[in-house]
Amino acid sequence: MLAGRTPRVLLILALCLVSLSLVASHPPPTPSEPPPASDTKPPSDLGKKLFLERCGKCHDERGDKPLASGPPLNERAPTREEIARAVRGRFRDRTDDERAAVVAYIESFLKTQPRPADPSE
Ligand code: HEC
Repeated sequence: MLAGRTPRVLLILALCLVSLSLVASHPPPTPSEPPPASDTKPPSDLGKKLFLERCGKCHDERGDKPLASGPPLNERAPTREEIARAVRGRFRDRTDDERAAVVAYIESFLKTQPRPADPSE
């Protein structure tokens, strides 16, 4: 009777030991580090930087500098096409993405949101 039981007890014991050693050698994963802050800036930061570089002298950071010909840029209501044209003219050496970022940045500070160039679009 006893002899019949012993192996099973040993087996259970052995299983316990194995699982214990498994747990010991595989500690629960520590919570992973937060991912490092990404280097890629959102487009508006890029647009702002480029705008400050090439347009800020006359328009200021938020386009609120009065212009010789009238109200500041942020009080005008240029169409997206007019903005894009102004950007193209001064950013010929830049990529489409960079120009688009500048256009988006300009649109972000306009008091009147740009009218679509063509309402049927
Ligand atoms: C040397 C000064 C100067 C710089 C630099 C300059 N602008 Fe201007 N910008 C002006 C003036 C002045 C006006 C008003 C022109 C007018 O009333 O016809 C103007 C007008 C504009 C307008 C309105 C256009 C319209 O049809 O009403 C946009 C858009 C514009 N600028 C974008 C830009 C962008 C983008 C840059 C940089 C890439 C830039 N500007 C750099 C002086 C400047």
